[in-house]
Amino acid sequence: MSKVFRVPVAPARGGATTAPRTPPPTTATRRCGIVAGCLSPHPPHLIYAENPPQNEPRSTGGWETLRWAYERLRTRIREVHKPDVLIVHAPHWITMVGHHVNCVPNPRGTSVEPIFPHLFRYHYDFRTDVELGEAIAEEANGLGLVTRTLHDPRVRVDYATIGALHLANPAWDIPVVSLSANNNPYFYSDASLEEMEVLGEATRRAVEATGRRAVLLASNSLSHLHWHEEPELPEDMEREHPYNNHQYRWDMKLLEAIRRGPTAPLRELIPEHIEATASETKAGSLTWMLAAMGWPKVAGDVLGYGTIIGTGNAVVEWVPEGDHHG
Ligand SMILES: [Fe+2]
Repeated sequence: MSKVFRVPVAPARGGATTAPRTPPPTTATRRCGIVAGCLSPHPPHLIYAENPPQNEPRSTGGWETLRWAYERLRTRIREVHKPDVLIVHAPHWITMVGHHVNCVPNPRGTSVEPIFPHLFRYHYDFRTDVELGEAIAEEANGLGLVTRTLHDPRVRVDYATIGALHLANPAWDIPVVSLSANNNPYFYSDASLEEMEVLGEATRRAVEATGRRAVLLASNSLSHLHWHEEPELPEDMEREHPYNNHQYRWDMKLLEAIRRGPTAPLRELIPEHIEATASETKAGSLTWMLAAMGWPKVAGDVLGYGTIIGTGNAVVEWVPEGDHHG
């Protein structure tokens, strides 16, 4: 089933590598490539709790430990990684056939969370790195993934894309490439993590061919069972705790393996964690990101963990070998 949206690669093409493009002149003294990967979950509650000017609803706060983790991540992105582009894979831009890449130069509009519209009505306005987006689609097609570029300026950007991007960089001053999630995994339980390996490889090749310095964002929560009743005050932290101990223990099992490193054992552990906890990583964002980084032989830095309406959420940063900061 996992081959449904893959087609044979034409042998005459001689490999899928994008023709080298002229790197931007500033890259001469900087390392190009993927300089960090971040697990960056998108629950709308985190943005609601921050009260940024772009979001209409107002709150009294809440979920501080996760928001402080994101603050530390922002500092690292801004002061250490200094990327040319943020590339995000998000599970709520669902495409039925294959993978899509948003290549609209300046998406603008309002993103509304359909289940929590009272928490998230967010006005976005950002820049896309169109050249890189097109290169990723070209590489992915070359590797046999059915992939399309999206050019319709009326696109409504989903809240998982906006959520991860805002939380990682609320200034929105870094160009973006956003990738859709093929919904195959929701129908074929063992499919598509394999596809994510290919999409990751395509992403890496395109980043290198275009001479970009990229940070990747995997917009996924972990354990994903959640409450069905909301407190009168949504940010009432008395009501916030893990859905149950089984979900929590499995999140800890995954995070302990992440903290221990290297990442290779996660290839088996991620599907087990999905099976045990209905993890949102089933949508493939985390696997895409680690595959793009070549399953680096490093530990991930868990900056924070917390629950949101019972779901498990962790902010984690991986820095490839040789790029470590103090
Ligand atoms: Fe989600």
